[in-house]
This record gives sequence, C-alpha cells and structure tokens, in this order.
Amino acid sequence: MAYVRVCGLSELEEDTPKRVEVDGTPISLVRTCDEVFAIYDICSHANVSLAEGEVDDCHVECWLHGSRFDLRSGKPDALPATRPVPVYPVKIEGDDVLVSLSQES
Ligand code: FES
Repeated sequence: MAYVRVCGLSELEEDTPKRVEVDGTPISLVRTCDEVFAIYDICSHANVSLAEGEVDDCHVECWLHGSRFDLRSGKPDALPATRPVPVYPVKIEGDDVLVSLSQES
C-alpha cells in the first residue's frame, strides 16, 4: 500500500504521541529514540488510546493497566496485554511524515 502523508515532522514533539488516522485506521505517531514510529492506536487489551500513554525507552505504556508496547515490534512486555498491536512502516521525506498501512511483521 502506498505511503500517505500524515503530518509534518516539526509537528511531532519528542516523546509525545500524536494520534492520526489513515483511511479510518487510528494510529499513534511517536517521535523517540531518534526515529518516528507508527503503532495502531488501540491497546490490544481494551479500547484505550495508546496516544494517551507515556513514552519511555522506545516503548509506549498503556495508561489504563500499564502494559508497555515496543514501538519497533508492537509486542507487549508486561501483562495484562498479551497480544501485539500492529506497527506500520514510516518514511520521512523532508518535513513530511509518511505512513503505509501495510504492516511490518
Ligand atoms: S487497556 Fe491497555 S493494558 Fe489494559
């Protein structure tokens, strides 16, 4: 699937997730660890926006029960979430942040 521009790089604050939508899919963009990550915005444990969570050490923590998802793989490293959330490839072109909905494995 083609890459879609979702925002400007300068709109992303370090360690502060930004929620965007691509074709109706909610995505958290996270600028951290010298990269920009795109992760599906809904926790795999319950219907909670990960964009409202804390970012630390290339992870985003769900604020409700504290599961931490690796922004590189989408895998949780702490209970209660057991299933990964999808992560998506990101490209930076100048000041443009582009995301593709085709999932990385
Ligand atoms: S809703 Fe995210 S860990 Fe429970």
